[in-house]
Amino acid sequence: MHYKGFATTAIHTGQEPDPLTGAVTVPLYQTSTYAQEGIGQHKGFEYARTHNLTRFKWEENLAALEAGNDQEAWGYAFASGLAALDTVMKLLSAGDHVIAAEDMYGGTFRLFDKILRRFGLEFSYVDMTNPESVRKALTPKTKMIYTESPTNPMMMLTDLAAVSAIAKEAGAMMVVDNTFASPYIQQPLRLGADIVLHSATKYLGGHSDLVSGIVATNRKDIADQIKFLQNAAGAVPGPFECWLCLRSIKTLAVRMKQHEENARQIAEFCAHHPAIKKVYYPGLPSHPQHELAKKQMRGFGAMISIELGSLEKAKQFASSVRVFTLAESLGGVESLVCHPVSMTHGSVPKETRDRLGVTDGLVRLSVGIEDIEDLRADIEQALK
Ligand SMILES: Cc1ncc(COP(=O)(O)O)c(C=O)c1O
Repeated sequence: MHYKGFATTAIHTGQEPDPLTGAVTVPLYQTSTYAQEGIGQHKGFEYARTHNLTRFKWEENLAALEAGNDQEAWGYAFASGLAALDTVMKLLSAGDHVIAAEDMYGGTFRLFDKILRRFGLEFSYVDMTNPESVRKALTPKTKMIYTESPTNPMMMLTDLAAVSAIAKEAGAMMVVDNTFASPYIQQPLRLGADIVLHSATKYLGGHSDLVSGIVATNRKDIADQIKFLQNAAGAVPGPFECWLCLRSIKTLAVRMKQHEENARQIAEFCAHHPAIKKVYYPGLPSHPQHELAKKQMRGFGAMISIELGSLEKAKQFASSVRVFTLAESLGGVESLVCHPVSMTHGSVPKETRDRLGVTDGLVRLSVGIEDIEDLRADIEQALK
């Protein structure tokens, strides 16, 4: 069933009461296989890598949240964000060319550069903030344009409608990692993208208690291939992760509102603090793509990067915070601090990091939903 509102969809799509017992939460089908009445006679469920109802319900839910209530879409869940991405990349064949954003999660770059290149895929890394640089990188072999928006960790945006139009013209698939925004803030499929993927470990899971990934598409031809790959390559999540995601997604809308309200205040506070040299947050008017953010996002999310000027200052800040926790990952209810150079972006070459501004003094904040006074006071005392 389709609902008008985002929160209603999150709470009810795929989350109908269980027809057998009336349970208001989707049951956890913790099983690897299903009894069959006779050879070839079963209830449509044969083996849990292929069929798991808890997973199906989570996939249906997330597809509806990404695509909206007026079009069909399909979701496929995976063991992690990288497993989701790896499966999406298996849509391609040796010799195909991919245009990718030069600023991305380090693990994505590592998968492309250290593994997929060995299988014959070719990658060009471009400045995705400029659609013209994407157009210039097209070759007759280009089959995919791949981006994050906002990017990890520099918070750069891709004009998703403009770059999706370039992909369409070139006959290439447009793929967007929507992890930093979540579908509450941004719906790339509605801006022309063909595939959206998430590290569900982050805002979708939302409580720093699971690792999972998910893909959604509104193209049936792509959905059929991903479904095949999900089963044939087998990087599926366990049913409990899917159940946790269904539980968490019910509060995505309220969490994102609070994440963002806090982040806006923290970004403002940081922008006026003399110890902070630069603040990267699409919600600040000083962000070079603030107008684009207003156009293609519903709000600005809760990820902020700050430049403290040196490794010593970054270290001191990271070890002085008391409410924020120094940890990899993001998107949980608790605020986290991360040092990209030493934690998430070690595999990105130093020249690229230097050019993009991923410096030794850069610190990334994932602003949680604690009380804003505590978060502000924590940053204040850590900067002293
Ligand atoms: C933007 C982004 N995409 C993908 C991933 C990979 O997800 P996972 O850690 O769930 O494999 C991450 C992980 O940090 C990420 O930040």
